[in-house]
Amino acid sequence: MFLNRTRQITGLDIGSHAVKMIALRPAKGELPFELVHFGVADVPEDTIVDGAIADEEPVARTITELLDQHKVKSPLIAASVSGNAVIVRRVTLPRQDPDDLRAALPYEAEEHIPFDIDDVDLDFAILSEDDESGSMDVVLVAAKRERVDEHVAVIEAAKRTATIMDIDAFAVQNAFEFNYPERQFEDVAILNLGSSVINMAVLEGGNPSFWRDIAIGMQQYVVALQRQFMLDAFDAEEVLRRVSRNAAAQGGGAPDRSLAEWSDEGEEGADLQDAATDPRVLEVIGQVSDRIIGEISKTFDFYQAQAMREHFDAVFLAGGGAHITDLGNRLHDRMGWPVEIFDPLRRVKIPEGLFDPEYIRDSGPESTVAVGLALRGVTE
Ligand SMILES: Nc1ncnc2c1ncn2[C@@H]1O[C@H](COP(=O)(O)OP(=O)(O)OP(=O)(O)O)[C@@H](O)[C@H]1O
Ligand SMILES: [Mg+2]
Repeated sequence: MFLNRTRQITGLDIGSHAVKMIALRPAKGELPFELVHFGVADVPEDTIVDGAIADEEPVARTITELLDQHKVKSPLIAASVSGNAVIVRRVTLPRQDPDDLRAALPYEAEEHIPFDIDDVDLDFAILSEDDESGSMDVVLVAAKRERVDEHVAVIEAAKRTATIMDIDAFAVQNAFEFNYPERQFEDVAILNLGSSVINMAVLEGGNPSFWRDIAIGMQQYVVALQRQFMLDAFDAEEVLRRVSRNAAAQGGGAPDRSLAEWSDEGEEGADLQDAATDPRVLEVIGQVSDRIIGEISKTFDFYQAQAMREHFDAVFLAGGGAHITDLGNRLHDRMGWPVEIFDPLRRVKIPEGLFDPEYIRDSGPESTVAVGLALRGVTE
């Protein structure tokens, strides 16, 4: 009776490139949940910069239109923040009562969180307790209040209510734990390759142990292609997508002539056509990949030094960057670990007839955070 009255919570990932929206509900049968809503909408250029909402009105409009278009009835939203406004640290503290820790949180956080403690929202979760040493492992979270307020405000401006405010890296971890239960004894890293930031989550044999937001994103490809081939952002993005799609279809080879077919007529179209078939495009993409992998590998080095671990069973790629041609191969060559594309809907039933399975499969990796958020609103 009460369950029926529970209002649906929609997962809403407000990314700097696109807003992703997912709602789930419990399903009968083999898979625990089924898809209720799935939508993606591009955010107008420069309205979200490095995770900060620079211009509220267009973002609110994008959200309203997306939710209205998909006839999402419930106003309840689970959203998240990430990037330079968020810090997550796993720390070992003397064993104490959760209430005591909550009271001491600003003091404890001061030591581990390089933000002004007065400007942040703090939270924690106890991961494990050790009787022998009288200590406990805790994850501390600090999110700049300004950033959280901004997200709450844009959701309000879209006439909805933020009921859950999460962190992208946690949502990614959540999506992994749900979708890959049989991998819970492995050591895995998940990289959510977004437009402005890479969210990284590490699980050691199922224990969440490390989270970082790496301040480099897939926007780098767009900027490099723009500069190199004198394209606007839209066309550069289109070239990136076409080259990636083409290479995927060919099993990673060079782009072929068919890339030219999509481009529009006229002067500009001709430029674009040249760019899309130019072998230098792959070279530019490769250079950016190496730069991005350089940043990722620094973070892995840091993690490995402090965790004293050498090996990963798998590195999963999520986010829009998971599509980018050759990035996974190059990462594998550099680090040596198996690289897999993350499937956030692996254990979600997609009701036939209501969705376009191809579209959903194509947008799979970038909906990882939205799935992790939607999972907060349902119970298995
Ligand atoms: N099919 C594709 N092929 C190549 N690149 C793609 C593809 N789809 C998305 N991208 C790239 O991925 C990026 C968008 O990824 P995503 O949607 O995960 O970012 P975001 O969540 O909006 O950003 P952030 O989390 O950094 O704020 C864009 O830079 C886009 O160019
Ligand atoms: Mg994102």
